[in-house]
Amino acid sequence: MILTEIDHVAIAVHDLEEAIRYYQQAFGAEVHHREVVERDGVEEALIKVADSYIQLTTATRDDSPIAKFLETRGEGLHHIGYRVTDCKAALQAMVDAGARPIDEIPRPGSRGTTVAFIHPKGSHGTLIELVQE
Ligand code: CO
Repeated sequence: MILTEIDHVAIAVHDLEEAIRYYQQAFGAEVHHREVVERDGVEEALIKVADSYIQLTTATRDDSPIAKFLETRGEGLHHIGYRVTDCKAALQAMVDAGARPIDEIPRPGSRGTTVAFIHPKGSHGTLIELVQE
């Protein structure tokens, strides 16, 4: 088994501040990390749950994939991050199993991680992100 943890559950939201407030009020949650990832056109707030995260994500520009997602599908579950020890090897194993990679090679993610995204088509309808810390 090459997955070591559910790294994060990513939820697309229209208003990041409002979503953070909701998680604070409902769960007493605290934001562990916040980051704008310019290349992806997203701003995210990470709420730590044990050794995993809830990642509230919003768009920073109209042409980002998250903006498109919010426009067509509305708020909701966007992708699941699976933690692995070797992103490159995990990506290859998924491709060998028939997955459709979005990233042909691993690239930098938030929090200094190395990540690769896999298309939902070919992975039973789930956008998967492989995350190496
Ligand atoms: Co993610």
